[in-house]
Amino acid sequence: MTTRTNSETETHLSGNDWSRDTLVDYFLINGGTRLRGTVTISGSKNAALPIMAASMLCEGETVLRGVPDLADVRTLGELLSELGVKVRREANGDLHLAVKDEMNCHARYDLVRRMRASVCVMGALVAKRRKAQVAMPGGCAIGFRPIELHLQGLTALGVDAELVGGDVHLKAKKLVGNEIFLGGPFGSSVTATANVMMAASLAEGRTIIEQAACEPEVTDLANYLNQCGANITGQGSPRMVIEGVSTLTGCEYSVIPDRIEAGTFMIGAAITNGEVRLQNCRLEHLLAVVDRLRHVGVNVDRDKGEAVVSSARRLEPIEMTTQPFPGFPTDLQAQLVALLCLAEGNSVITEKIYPDRFLHVPELNRMGANIRKEGPTIMIQGVKKLVGAPVMASDLRASAALVLAGLIAKGETRVNRVYHIDRGYEQIEKKLGALGADIRRLAE
Ligand code: EPZ
Repeated sequence: MTTRTNSETETHLSGNDWSRDTLVDYFLINGGTRLRGTVTISGSKNAALPIMAASMLCEGETVLRGVPDLADVRTLGELLSELGVKVRREANGDLHLAVKDEMNCHARYDLVRRMRASVCVMGALVAKRRKAQVAMPGGCAIGFRPIELHLQGLTALGVDAELVGGDVHLKAKKLVGNEIFLGGPFGSSVTATANVMMAASLAEGRTIIEQAACEPEVTDLANYLNQCGANITGQGSPRMVIEGVSTLTGCEYSVIPDRIEAGTFMIGAAITNGEVRLQNCRLEHLLAVVDRLRHVGVNVDRDKGEAVVSSARRLEPIEMTTQPFPGFPTDLQAQLVALLCLAEGNSVITEKIYPDRFLHVPELNRMGANIRKEGPTIMIQGVKKLVGAPVMASDLRASAALVLAGLIAKGETRVNRVYHIDRGYEQIEKKLGALGADIRRLAE
């Protein structure tokens, strides 16, 4: 068993395979310390990924500030490099992207299966290069994740799409604006809205997207595109209007703070009865989360533009249903479940976005939680304490929930497969350690 330093685990945008480097890593957590202090929230992963893809629409260079150094960002960097984009991370963290060659339009299965968000290159490729070949993403730990809304939207703009050998082949002589409804059985789609918005930005005429996703990450993409010369209005609402333009030009842009990372640290403060100040946190992106946490009995205050979260009281049970923004995000459901395991009474959680996203439940039960699942709903009967155990991370947010549970569990918790968490949390063990948690990254 060896302790890993940061330099040992570090990979670069030009690196080949982040997963090989961190596949055997695990976290050892000794529970029981209160989180106290200040944490700086990183830039948003889910805002940065589509904006990186959108840089392919532009002439000249895009410089992105605040892009977190994460496995998923490196994977997309690798894919964009294959697609002819020069991707360079400066020492100050700025990410420079500039298209050098538009010949290759193939997003290979090897990369897409590693990260589903790779499908966000589809809209930019077909709009700028008039063709794309993008591997159809396969299964996913959090449930069924089709892409028919992406294809429906792009087809409405004049794109021909055909599935051949597991790849979606897209081509278009020209793109023409249209009225497009993007609602699906589980509400709007974040990445489908992003793909259609990117393509419509360079289409002829006006596109109206009804039931567009309202997530702050979609708004951030629209704001980036507008700064590059696009003409998009209505972002943040379900009706977006995009007047096509003929050219977009790269710009300098700062991505929004990561609301899911912020929510995770808020719940970390709550579960350990601690007090954490969050810098670079936009509480207006977290209103549903703040609402639920206050009902649980957690204090959430604004102070000089920062958020301060503390908890010293008993935790009340609550009901919560995940919804598209501005509702409670599915990406914080698992972390909230970890907290409610310790509430004094029964909580009910319903997952409306990904009805099968409950792989953390059996693992939490291994730690002494009392959770029962029926369809897309779980009933959590609060327990007095959680007890450390070896547990298995299954996806990014489930891993975060297990780490939070480990922070308060009695004794030692070993969270295996932390490569999941490395996809979406920048140096989580360092940030938690700085707040007083006893957490170490180790390798087999
Ligand atoms: C984005 O995924 C996020 N990923 C996810 O975060 C997040 O969980 C999800 O939005 C919901 O908020 C990125 O932004 C990179 P959707 P996306 O299309 O865009 C259904 C994380 O942990 N649907 O908005 O792929 C779909 O099955 C990740 O950081 C269709 O039915 O999600 C789901 O039920 C995981 N048909 C719902 O819509 C489609 O064509 C919302 O999915 C597309 C989606």
